Amino acid sequence: MNENTVFLLSNGVEIPSTGFGTWQIPDGEIAFNAVSYALQCGYRHIDTARNYGNEQSVGRAIKDSGVTRSDIFVTSKLPAEVKTYKETLESFDTSLSSLGLSYIDLYLIHAPWPWNRQGYDYRKENIEVWKAMEEIYKSGRCRAIGVSNFEISDLVAILDNCNIKPMVNQIRYFIGNTQNGLVNFCRQNNILVEGYSPLATGAILANKKVAAIAEKYNTTLPQLCIRYVMKKGVIPLPKSTNPVHIKQNTDVNFEIVASDMEYLNSLTGTVKGLRLSKIKSWIKKRLIYLKSYIGK
Ligand code: A2P
Repeated sequence: MNENTVFLLSNGVEIPSTGFGTWQIPDGEIAFNAVSYALQCGYRHIDTARNYGNEQSVGRAIKDSGVTRSDIFVTSKLPAEVKTYKETLESFDTSLSSLGLSYIDLYLIHAPWPWNRQGYDYRKENIEVWKAMEEIYKSGRCRAIGVSNFEISDLVAILDNCNIKPMVNQIRYFIGNTQNGLVNFCRQNNILVEGYSPLATGAILANKKVAAIAEKYNTTLPQLCIRYVMKKGVIPLPKSTNPVHIKQNTDVNFEIVASDMEYLNSLTGTVKGLRLSKIKSWIKKRLIYLKSYIGK
C-alpha cells in the first residue's frame, strides 16, 4: 500500500488515499472473502453500496477481520432510485443494519438520477434528498456525506441550496477518462474526487499504449493504472475477487515521471467505443435538460 497516506475531507475527516471497490462483487462468500483478503493485504478503505447488494457480507468481513473498526474507512451509498427525504432516512438505517455497523464513515447519493432514468433532471429531488443527508450527518451516524456520478449542474443545485457542502464526488475515472472540467470544479469547491473503475472495469487491460508504459516501470498494467489515478490526486477504488490481483493492486508505490504522466494524460481512446458513447450521452443529457427548461 502507498504508505497508508490519507487525504483530508473538507470537514477534517481523514480518508485513506486508496480504497477497495466492491461493485459487481456478489454477496455471500465471494464478497466476504474478497473484503477479508483486501483487509489482510492492508486496505483500510472499503467502498460498498446498497445497490451492490453485498453490504451484509462486506460488514461481516469487516467485523471478522480483527481490525479495529475506527481504523477502517467504510463508504456506502443511497440507492439511485431513492429521491425523497423520508426514504433517504429509512434507506440509511437499512444500510447501517445490513452492514452491522454503528456508523458509516462516508455516505453518498449513488447517482443524480435513478438508473433507468439516466440523464433526466432530478435536481429538485436531489435537494430534498440532500436535506436528509445533512440530518444523517448531524446525527453523528456518518462522518462525512457526498455524492456520486454528479455532473457540474447537479452539484451546483446542491451547493446553491445546502447548509453542508458535499465532501466527496465519486466518479468513473481512469486513463483516458479523467473528466478534467468536473474534477477542477470539485477541487474549486473543496470536494474530494474518488475514482471508481480505475481499470475501466477491465476494458483497459488490453490497451497496448498503456501496457508499454507499464512495462517501462516493470509493473503490471493494472498497477500503472491505479498509480496514475493516485498521482492525479484522485482516490482509486479498484475491485477484484482474485487474491493475486487484490494483493498486486496494493503494490503501487512507485513514481511515474512527469513526461509519462503527460503522455498518459493525452491518451483518449484507451477503451474502444468510449468516445462515441460519451458524445451520445452528452447529447442525450443536453436534450433532456433543454426539454425540462422548455416545459417550465
Ligand atoms: P478480477 O476480479 O478477476 O481480478 P475496475 O476496478 O476498473 O472496476 O476493474 C475490475 C476488473 O479488473 C475486474 O474484472 C477484475 O477482475 C480486473 N482486475 C482487477 N485487478 C486486476 C489485476 N491486478 N490484474 C488483472 N485484472 C484485474
